[in-house]
Amino acid sequence: MANSPIHTRGQSHFRRTKVGTVPAKHSGVTMKYDSIAPIQYDYSALIISDAAPAIVRQTALAEADLRWLLPRLVAARQEIFDNLVLFESGGPVPEDKQPLDAAFFDLPERLLDEDRPVLDQIIAVGNRLAADVDRVLVLGIGGSYMGAKALFDACCHPYHNELSREARGGRPRIYFEGNNVDNDSVRGLLDILEGDDNWAIVVISKSGGTLETAAGFRIFLDALRKSCGGDEAKLRQRVVPVTGETGKLRDLANALGCPDVFPVFEGVGGRFSVLSAVGLLPAVVMGLDVVKLLEGAAAMNERFRTQPPRENPVLDYAGISRLMETRRGATIRVLSTWGKRLESVGLWYDQLLAESLGKNGQGATPLTVVNTRDLHSRGQQHQEGRHDKLITNLIVRQPEREPIKLHKSSLNQDKLNELAGKTLPDILSAALAGTNKAYAEDHRATADMLLPRADEASLGQLFQMLMVATVAEGRLVGINPYGQPGVEAYKKNMNAILRGE
Ligand code: PA5
Repeated sequence: MANSPIHTRGQSHFRRTKVGTVPAKHSGVTMKYDSIAPIQYDYSALIISDAAPAIVRQTALAEADLRWLLPRLVAARQEIFDNLVLFESGGPVPEDKQPLDAAFFDLPERLLDEDRPVLDQIIAVGNRLAADVDRVLVLGIGGSYMGAKALFDACCHPYHNELSREARGGRPRIYFEGNNVDNDSVRGLLDILEGDDNWAIVVISKSGGTLETAAGFRIFLDALRKSCGGDEAKLRQRVVPVTGETGKLRDLANALGCPDVFPVFEGVGGRFSVLSAVGLLPAVVMGLDVVKLLEGAAAMNERFRTQPPRENPVLDYAGISRLMETRRGATIRVLSTWGKRLESVGLWYDQLLAESLGKNGQGATPLTVVNTRDLHSRGQQHQEGRHDKLITNLIVRQPEREPIKLHKSSLNQDKLNELAGKTLPDILSAALAGTNKAYAEDHRATADMLLPRADEASLGQLFQMLMVATVAEGRLVGINPYGQPGVEAYKKNMNAILRGE
């Protein structure tokens, strides 16, 4: 295990009956997932004393702001519990709550418990695919691929596809398509796959009718059929669809006779589906520990259910973000990732926030940056541009690999001998501390999200934290976080143009 941690300023149904339990710490209940190293949300730098000078008070939050917020956060949490109960009851859903895709919330606990057979099947099929082929193509767009891509980039070797099979842990190479209609990109992938008979497709579309994914599936299915040399039984084994109970992709899967088709559970929306077969099946193919991923998410749910505001990362993140937006004009929400492997996690969150809360003329604009890379592009604006941003640093405390040191050199024209002995994590850590200091000195305080590691348990917590926080924020503001009516408009127009209607 690597050392040299990144330094920061601070260091089911049975469950459904218990959705609103009293805080564990007050009731003496043991936390079931307390073996999971917790992620932390540290917003202390954003809170200033009521006596701070006016310039500071204009850019950060006071205790009075928090006092106003707390009961509202507690009410938003209760609404999430109530919505799950309402969803489960099958009773009528008020119009302003439709669609009500509340079922993502306890999906981790269900898959670990009463729906464990579903999880076991996902694991079995993912492992079968991984053993059978050397390349797996994941087709899907938006919520039907961004979570899997985030997991791939965060948890797999950064050059996974270029490694030998052995160095990949016996796992296939992974490709993502069907998330665009880019001719040359598709051609490029066909160059690799055509003539190779050792690949498979995981096609993911909840609706089963999204054009980008459907077009990609048609193109790559043709190529796969040719690769299988007319062996239809082999073809069927090499296509695993993940889709709703009805729809065009479901019909196609039935017509093909695919033996393994995974449903997207009712009440789990696309961008809330990373912890269903949508994200789990590709994750198994990659060789990731999906039980740990779900346990991480369940641990975050446990904290959300039981911890009071000011100790509850989900409620605190939702509340601080909301206050900074409405009271301090921070309409741009920057997720400032430290290290390359979290960029796709940031893009996953961009989609989650934008599609969930960008409605009725409202919603903060998400923006993912990767540091230190983007200090050399966006850094100037974040330091001296408009005061319209809330910057949250996403930090992995511990690199997975042995820290690389700068060594002394006989060629010292670059003057780096003075830094000999420092590691790359030391440099990243200094860049982070230096950036936070520079922003703070210009009254641009930042918050931190600290992940113990870039691994399944941390990612599970983070996904769940951000999904539940997005819903909580929606309930706080009165925006339905589910559904994306605005996206439907472009789809309708595109189809009408293509069909000459
Ligand atoms: O969050 C959502 O629901 C969307 O981003 C969808 O995931 C995306 O539009 C893809 O839809 P589908 O899975 O139906 O192909």
